[in-house]
Amino acid sequence: MASCQARLERSLSHWLPAAGTHPSILHESMRYAVLDGGKRIRPTLVYASGRAVGSEPELLDDPASAIEFMHAYSLVHDDLPAMDDDDLRRGKPSCHKAYGEATAILAGDALQSLAFYVLGHGNTALTDQARHHMIEALALAAGSRGMAGGQCIDLAAAGQELDIAELEDMHIHKTGALIRCSVVLGALTNAQLEPDVLGKLDHYAKCIGLAFQIRDDILDEEGETGTLGKRSGSDRSSGKSTYPALIGLDAAKQRADELHEEAMDSLSGLGEPADPLRWISLYIIERDR
Ligand code: IPE
Ligand code: IPE
Ligand code: MG
Ligand code: MG
Ligand code: MG
Repeated sequence: MASCQARLERSLSHWLPAAGTHPSILHESMRYAVLDGGKRIRPTLVYASGRAVGSEPELLDDPASAIEFMHAYSLVHDDLPAMDDDDLRRGKPSCHKAYGEATAILAGDALQSLAFYVLGHGNTALTDQARHHMIEALALAAGSRGMAGGQCIDLAAAGQELDIAELEDMHIHKTGALIRCSVVLGALTNAQLEPDVLGKLDHYAKCIGLAFQIRDDILDEEGETGTLGKRSGSDRSSGKSTYPALIGLDAAKQRADELHEEAMDSLSGLGEPADPLRWISLYIIERDR
């Protein structure tokens, strides 16, 4: 996993235009939003899922970078005053605090485009068909029926009390879609993959995607700004519907634990190559305990 993270950092830096490239303020802000921070969970999932289906890391650098660019864009826009209005991200001033709102909007736009460029261009080891399927999967996951749709539901729900089904629907879209897509991108590097293996991986991904946002909501209540690298207590102060707000912290933790167990069950039969996927699920529910 450590070697994959090193590969990823090289790949991200390679794809991002140099800070001095015209227009330099935009390229500087893009590099600021992506490099030097972040847990890199989604790209790590791409490498782990690729490993589970027997693919070499060389095939995984492009999809891993693409999903992190998409995620970084979603964070830049998520922090904007019109959205969550958060001034701290990854332990640094949010992109719009460092570069201004207009540049942050453009940095997000450009990072989203870069994600698709990487998938479409990239090294030739991936087949055209794999790239085609990856572009389709990422477009769906990031768009109105995925992350952007979930963000819309999130904003509309501020100040309202959702029921559990509505809350899960929001989480599955705003956070689950990109996490699920990460696992799918890794799996798509093996064109011969059996449909039932893909089904197992996909079910695993759905479980950890929901568990991830539940833990994020718990951390917003319980975590320290210093360790989180983003302001804790932000959800409560902006009237967000969250798991802990709805069912309490203990029940929220229990729900995340159950989802971890379900994710583990889903990987049964995939053997040792799926171990990194198991570690990531455990990391999601344990990282702050
Ligand atoms: C934060 O994601 C946004 C959510 C979807 C909850 P991460 O917690 O993965 O953020 P980074 O990438 O580590 O900064
Ligand atoms: C973010 O959810 C989801 C996306 C960025 C798509 P949050 O608003 O809870 O994420 P944080 O807590 O600001 O990282
Ligand atoms: Mg948000
Ligand atoms: Mg936010
Ligand atoms: Mg949050």
